[in-house]
Amino acid sequence: MEIKKITVLGAGLMGHGIAQVAAQIGKYDVTMRDIEQRFIDNGINMIRTSLQKFVSKGQITETEMNETLARIHTTLDLKQAVSNADLIIEAVPENIELKKTTFREVDVYVPKHAIIASNTSSVSITELASATKRPEKVAGMHFFNPPQLMKLIEIIKGAKTSDETIQTIQEVAQKMEKETVLVKKDTPGFIVNRILIPALNEAVALLWEDIATKEDIDKAIKLGLNWPMGPLMLLDYIGADTTLAIAEVLQHELDEKFHPHPGLKQMVKANLLGRKTGKGFYDWTQK
Ligand code: 3HC
Repeated sequence: MEIKKITVLGAGLMGHGIAQVAAQIGKYDVTMRDIEQRFIDNGINMIRTSLQKFVSKGQITETEMNETLARIHTTLDLKQAVSNADLIIEAVPENIELKKTTFREVDVYVPKHAIIASNTSSVSITELASATKRPEKVAGMHFFNPPQLMKLIEIIKGAKTSDETIQTIQEVAQKMEKETVLVKKDTPGFIVNRILIPALNEAVALLWEDIATKEDIDKAIKLGLNWPMGPLMLLDYIGADTTLAIAEVLQHELDEKFHPHPGLKQMVKANLLGRKTGKGFYDWTQK
């Protein structure tokens, strides 16, 4: 099936980046939907800032920037957002009930042929598919932050996802110039987060046990494993709340060994979430 129109639900940290990649690289006609105008305005501003960076580095022209922006439409109305779409990419906040409600509603308004994908990092694709009458046309399409720069998309097959749906999503990812991996079974954390989240959790444990300073923990992993940034800094980028939420899903759905460290829980209780609240392990208010 050929995808022409893509709708992204959510204009936040991931949603705006996915919408941008779809319009800029995939050259798709994109609709970005959120529930309040200020969220849409913020998303468009982030897209503009990102495009400006590419222009100032000579990676795209001013004309390409304007053409990309012209391909992105916005709306607050869910029905209007999805009723013409061939592919929906859901990127609403990581809350299972909200995602299920969204899938249920979207299923009513989208055309019969349309595929509904979720950018979730931890919610079961099979469970989201069950909220619709088209489970064979539901799959996971997990981008990484920032979607504009990160090459990978994990594609997740739910219990009833058809091979045709997977193939169509693979083609879309290719048009977006992304690399893909196929997660053959719908399992918590997929591939990347199942390995990443325990690593981040252990970095918190090392800090709490006062084994090393945060700077040295990050330096060790940056230089010892060639990560682009250390685990505590990455945790600040992802957000302690998101990291905790994923850890809890891994713990409850997979194995007790994934239990989050008390230190991580305390960061969340103290609202030390990282970049989004200005403070996490590091102070982001000056940057
Ligand atoms: N759009 C355009 N440009 C951007 C941008 C964006 N959204 N974000 C950053 N940039 C720019 C920076 O401003 C910088 O520009 P400058 O050189 O003019 O200052 C440039 O990109 C390069 O950035 P950096 O110099 O900081 O670093 P790198 O070039 O090495 O790479 C990076 C940037 C790819 C983001 C790198 O820092 C990185 O790989 N970080 C780790 C990211 C990561 O691990 N993401 C996965 C998180 S896990 C996840 O998302 C899953 C979820 O489910 C939890």
